[in-house]
Amino acid sequence: MTAEPAAARGGEGVAARIAAWRILRRVDADAAWSGPVVDTELRRSRLDERDRAFAANLAYSTLRWQGTLDWALTTVVTRPLERVEPAVLDVLRLGAWQLLYGDSPDRAAVDTAVSVAREQVGDHVAGFVNGVLRALARSRERLPWPSEHDDAGLALRSGYPAWVVASARERFGERARAVLEAGNVPPGLVLRATGDPAGLLAELRRAGFDATPGRLVPEAVNVPHADPGALACVAEGRAVVQDEASMVVARAAAPPTVAPGTASAPMAEPSWRVLDACAAPGGKTTHLAQLGATVAAADVRPNRAGFVRDAAARTGMAARVGVAVADAARPPWRAEAFDAVLVDAPCTGFGVVRRRPELRWRRTPGDAERLAGLQLRLLEAAAPLVRPGGVLVYSACTWTVAETVGVATGFTALYGDRFTLDAATLTPAAHRRPSAGDPGVQLSPDVDGSDGMYLCRWRAEPS
Ligand SMILES: C[S@@+](CC[C@H](N)C(=O)[O-])C[C@H]1O[C@@H](n2cnc3c(N)ncnc32)[C@H](O)[C@@H]1O
Repeated sequence: MTAEPAAARGGEGVAARIAAWRILRRVDADAAWSGPVVDTELRRSRLDERDRAFAANLAYSTLRWQGTLDWALTTVVTRPLERVEPAVLDVLRLGAWQLLYGDSPDRAAVDTAVSVAREQVGDHVAGFVNGVLRALARSRERLPWPSEHDDAGLALRSGYPAWVVASARERFGERARAVLEAGNVPPGLVLRATGDPAGLLAELRRAGFDATPGRLVPEAVNVPHADPGALACVAEGRAVVQDEASMVVARAAAPPTVAPGTASAPMAEPSWRVLDACAAPGGKTTHLAQLGATVAAADVRPNRAGFVRDAAARTGMAARVGVAVADAARPPWRAEAFDAVLVDAPCTGFGVVRRRPELRWRRTPGDAERLAGLQLRLLEAAAPLVRPGGVLVYSACTWTVAETVGVATGFTALYGDRFTLDAATLTPAAHRRPSAGDPGVQLSPDVDGSDGMYLCRWRAEPS
């Protein structure tokens, strides 16, 4: 729990709550992602470090628990929430989160919400906000929680839409709750060392950080409490912010000369050609280049292809990376042009809800099937580009059945005569969890401490 803002101990704390409210407004009204909005709003604010941490936690937590907060509010608001002005509803959500989950005294939570409403919306809504939140404070112990055995009940307890809970149960069975709850824990910072990981580890420890080696790949370094914006190693390109699960994916398409225990290949090995077909913003592209590959990086969106160019320049990998704006469903490359093709496909993204808490409320029930169809089409378009004996890698930062296992088994069924499954060495043995009927590997925050990334690899039959 993040401490109450300094000013709140004197009965105020309004400025930090206004910052949180502004973040919610921009995420809701502009359909923006919370991460960049939190960064810009807090940079713009005049809050001290402690109040910034309070505001960020309040905003992220309110976004995460939005479904439960709205449900609780419907028990005390006499009209449908759709008829509450969105700017006022966001004030109520912030207040409701503090009353249900926060450690601010009730009076501070209610009074500061009334002040935010007065200052940001107008005096006319102050009485309404005050009445609703006081009613919730009184009735909070008597809320009519449904049984956790139902999807709707677990949804309210875990902070997800009921259909996402149903999907998690379909995919993980008894483990569903653990996976969903792990998705609610903000991740610590993970870095990829672009040079010697031991040197990076030592540098961070000398600077006083609690830095530890990653669990899955040698170039990963955990620095749980660091702010990447304040790290010289990040500013100077000696480290890249990247989740370890993504590093596992890049390694699956890397030159075979990269030994499992080493962090990079010698720079003089330009012959392993990889197509990163869905490359932006370029984390895996630059990692592949670091591992010795020559990378053709493509993205269908021109502005996002620009991010890959920037990432390659920032990490000193531009000489090994060519960037193209291209639709991977209609690939412009000649057949058998690559030793490896990586399809890191657009997906529902439930594997990254730790970082994007609002994502769960933006997806709709048909998204997994629709995106699974696109992912299979991308894989089918990629298959002819792999040279005989080369590798094809599919990855998605999610866990729905339709996308992950569904796509991997669908591709295997269609192309099994030309592509053989080659998933045995995708992750260190200790993390491999064979599961019946699943040709790939599902990483997840509850077991691996990483994003919930799925990956599968096939090898093209030699000619
Ligand atoms: C999951 S992200 C890729 C992340 C990236 N591989 C990384 O590690 O930084 C998926 C990307 O696929 C791109 N994309 C979507 N449809 C595409 C298509 N038909 N062809 C190429 N890129 C596509 C999106 O613009 C998005 O940047």
